[in-house]
Amino acid sequence: MPPGHCLPLNDPDFIANPYPALQTLRRELPVFHDPQHNKTFFTRHADISALLKDKRLGRSLLHRYSREELGWPPPDPRLAPFNQYQDNVFMDMEGPAHTRLRGLVSKVFTPRQVENLRGKLEAVTVSLIDSAPRGEPFNFVQHIAEPLPVILIADLLGIPEQYRPQLRPWSAAIVKMYEMNPSDEDINSANQAAHDFMELVGQLAEQRRAHPGDDLISALTQAELDGSRLTEDELRATCIFLLNAGHEATVNGSTLGLLALLRNGEQAQALPAALASPSGDNLLKTAVDELLRYDTPLPMFERYVLEDMDFNGMPLKRGQELALLYISGNRDESRFEQANSLLLTRADNPLLTFGLGTHYCLGAPLARLELQTLFRVLFERRANIQLAGKPVFQSGFVIRGLANLPVMTR
Ligand code: HEM
Repeated sequence: MPPGHCLPLNDPDFIANPYPALQTLRRELPVFHDPQHNKTFFTRHADISALLKDKRLGRSLLHRYSREELGWPPPDPRLAPFNQYQDNVFMDMEGPAHTRLRGLVSKVFTPRQVENLRGKLEAVTVSLIDSAPRGEPFNFVQHIAEPLPVILIADLLGIPEQYRPQLRPWSAAIVKMYEMNPSDEDINSANQAAHDFMELVGQLAEQRRAHPGDDLISALTQAELDGSRLTEDELRATCIFLLNAGHEATVNGSTLGLLALLRNGEQAQALPAALASPSGDNLLKTAVDELLRYDTPLPMFERYVLEDMDFNGMPLKRGQELALLYISGNRDESRFEQANSLLLTRADNPLLTFGLGTHYCLGAPLARLELQTLFRVLFERRANIQLAGKPVFQSGFVIRGLANLPVMTR
């Protein structure tokens, strides 16, 4: 077992700025076992990249072993509604089950679908930015960052207007279950949200089977790959997962990105002119990737060890839980030059923000397009944007973002 160390995952100061502590760990204790969370943490880019490509690890163990074999208790009956959703989320599957579902979803959620959203994305971004206040502070999260991806992903899936106000609260309740030690209240809210959300998607899917539209729910009801189709639970869970994955991280990526820019004021001031120059399109791409590297909205993902193995001379035991700190790998000075500096033109940028390997983010093209459009339109129309107060972080580390980003523009 590697040396022990407790990571303060619930400490607000660590959540707001984990970078100095992680830098020390990369140097002095790059791999450690945290007895409090019962996980082995990895902090270096090279280790994390290698582990993400290693087939001896998986996001699940249950495709290989039964609960009895693993010595796990039966599933908690209190979690039945949440588990009906979670057990059908393909991100938590491995092997043929993952390949099949990812294949079915990729067939309908294509780069062309994302390209088709360009016009809508531009219009929504302009409208949100133009309707934000001028000459007084406003919360960028609430006015712009949050509504934008929710509108986009709801449009893509074809969720009617009247149900949209519910999407964000449902999603927020569900993702609380991914934080360490959710409370009883969190569990109840997640169950209720999962149940209601599954019901709604079920109703919409039934309607779309009868009257298909040009949306992802319709496409998923018809999707077929090698003679296989989505079951009802898979269809519902996939839509909900796309809705949640499609906005939670994007909201946080855009707000953390803007905060990074505003704290690097000279670069923010130079951005409008640079974006308008002939190399502006290229700069926009490298800048968004750099913002996503510099401050990571999904800091950590886990993998199980599927069989006893040796990793760089370190024995890892079947069932052991590894926590891969993408947020730390993204600042690893042995992989990134000037890792702690924001370099908007960084060309060699193997960021870990979207993961790597079989679970590489399926929505990365959409997320990038959303962020590129947002920052371009923002700096075209509100070039003088400034911080107008102290940013407030949310309480979670696993899904890390801002609750309040006070900004002001003329
Ligand atoms: C800035 C925004 C985003 C970030 C940082 C992000 C990050 C990630 C990461 C790190 C993973 C892999 C998890 C792992 O390694 O265990 C992932 C998977 C995934 N993401 Fe994203 N994501 C973003 C936006 C989106 C969007 C917009 C969508 C869809 C509309 C999406 C859909 C997915 C899906 C479906 C998977 C599962 C892939 C699989 O297991 O095969 N993501 N995302």
